[in-house]
Amino acid sequence: MSRIHEALKRAEEERENGVAAVSAPALRVEESRSEFASSGPRVSEDDRSLKADSQSVSEPGDVDDGFLTALPQQEWKPDLKRMLFMDRSRHYDPGMEEFRTLRSRLYQLKEKTKSLRTIMVASALPGEGKTFVSTNLAQALVRQHGRRVLLIDADVRKPHMHQSLGAAEAPGLVDYLSGSLNQESVVQRGPLDNLFFIPGGKAVSNPSELIANGRLKALLENMRNLFHWIIVDSSPVVPVSDATLVASACDGVLLVLQADTTPVTIAQKARQEFKNIPILGVVLNRSKESPAESSYYYSYGRNRTFEQNS
Ligand SMILES: Nc1ncnc2c1ncn2[C@@H]1O[C@H](COP(=O)(O)OP(=O)(O)OP(=O)(O)O)[C@@H](O)[C@H]1O
Ligand SMILES: [Mg+2]
Repeated sequence: MSRIHEALKRAEEERENGVAAVSAPALRVEESRSEFASSGPRVSEDDRSLKADSQSVSEPGDVDDGFLTALPQQEWKPDLKRMLFMDRSRHYDPGMEEFRTLRSRLYQLKEKTKSLRTIMVASALPGEGKTFVSTNLAQALVRQHGRRVLLIDADVRKPHMHQSLGAAEAPGLVDYLSGSLNQESVVQRGPLDNLFFIPGGKAVSNPSELIANGRLKALLENMRNLFHWIIVDSSPVVPVSDATLVASACDGVLLVLQADTTPVTIAQKARQEFKNIPILGVVLNRSKESPAESSYYYSYGRNRTFEQNS
């Protein structure tokens, strides 16, 4: 287990405000043999701050989703180096396996918290892998039969997710947030049947005001009835406040840390920023830990129920 992970774990355990400590072992799976060979998202679970719920949750299909099914499917030209699941020549890749493991973890959390649906992917600093994790996690989720997934690029300062997907940049979230377009006009339907996307749109000069104006919350409220999962990409949390605002409209946060790179103090600061929002887990990105060191974590995280669908 890397030093940063140990430090985060300790910090959690030392917290005096009652927020749950990280107690479950981290998941670790084999490294990718793709170009991103040193990559390896790893997840630690911190789910006790998510309250188990028994409320009835409406499922996509219970509500009128006519506008989604009527959307024409777009021709995306994905960047196959970044979009692990979209490369048809890549039948098996440890990187894909890592995202399946992350998916299994989320389903374990969902077992306890049925209403878990909207997940923000956050990081302390720029470039730690938020967009990489968001897009690949969405692909892993949508590969399960009948699951419908919405990806939202809420990094309206630097909206780049469309580049990974090879999708149109606009219209996008900023057009909806500024009130110039309705929600139906900014959703794209991708070539995979059940994967939908709201790009960030053209970068704007007043991103914080747009994020804070209440329309994002309304959008997520409406969309949660139409999708099994909504994955929201965001800006880095330490330099600007946008991510905290976005997170407050989501059910929980997945915190991406870059292994052996993110300073511990910065990671702790990011954790503090989300003190009122459940942290679903920590993804340790670009981990160089050898599979042998962590085989225990790997077997701990396997979940055959979901693997069979992908
Ligand atoms: N696990 C990984 N393995 C290999 N490359 C990765 C991995 N994670 C991210 N990258 C690459 O590193 C670069 C930065 O990642 P990404 O854009 O996802 O970071 P980000 O946190 O979204 O950055 P920003 O804060 O600027 O939006 C990208 O080129 C991405 O494809
Ligand atoms: Mg990004």
